[in-house]
Amino acid sequence: MESLKDKIIMERLPQHIAVIMDGNGRWAKQQGRMRVFGHQHGVDAVRATTEACAELGVKYLTLYAFSTENWNRSSMEVDALMALLTSALKNELKTLNDNNIRLNAIGDLKRLPKSQYEALMYAIDNTKNNTRMTLTLCLSYSSRWELTKAVRDIAEEVKNGTIRPEDIDETTVSRHLATAGMPDPDLLIRTSGEERISNYLLWQIAYSELYFTKKFWPDFTKEDLYEAIIDYQTRERRFGKTSEQIKK
Ligand code: IPE
Ligand code: IPE
Ligand code: MG
Repeated sequence: MESLKDKIIMERLPQHIAVIMDGNGRWAKQQGRMRVFGHQHGVDAVRATTEACAELGVKYLTLYAFSTENWNRSSMEVDALMALLTSALKNELKTLNDNNIRLNAIGDLKRLPKSQYEALMYAIDNTKNNTRMTLTLCLSYSSRWELTKAVRDIAEEVKNGTIRPEDIDETTVSRHLATAGMPDPDLLIRTSGEERISNYLLWQIAYSELYFTKKFWPDFTKEDLYEAIIDYQTRERRFGKTSEQIKK
């Protein structure tokens, strides 16, 4: 029997997939467990998705793990998420290296507790020469934080004469974002049935294809990822042109 994976057209693989991993809390509640239980199982879905992307040949996978707004959750939940971050970084480091995956992180990382920050920097440094895929964790990240910082940095360059206001173009803005150097996501996946962006990569997803699934994140499997990619491959990306122009 033909598997889902075989239906993927390898020549039209998204180069960059971004994911809003949502629904851990509801997944746990469904089985009468604490929210933290859902986050713990979310790590398995991270591993499966990362592996599947690397195996296929996706070059960039960017995961929304903790938003600026998530700092407003109870300290119990925030602490549990932070503890999970350290253990995942420690436990998955070997797998990242075995699979030749480079770890990257974006966000207001200075807000992370010292031990999480250090574990993160260690893992990033330890995987920096890997070339198969870049896995970016968005931590203490929000798009408005990122854009505000970019505006401030550009203003600073104008002030010290490195750049003139009339020379600021879209490339200048892109270069000042935390994602500088990465291609924009081709495909954005959000789990859990919510259909919103929640302050994620607002500039970068200007032309991304959006894919929403009702599955809660801990239930998201490699097969679900394949389904999302197959759906993506049925879309016609017109970038403002007409269908006829694209087909020429
Ligand atoms: C996503 O799951 C993980 C994080 C935001 C850290 P949630 O914790 O938001 O789960 P729900 O949306 O409450 O079910
Ligand atoms: C978005 O999920 C952030 C992450 C997945 C890390 P949330 O669950 O925090 O989003 P909202 O607040 O419900 O939109
Ligand atoms: Mg949520």
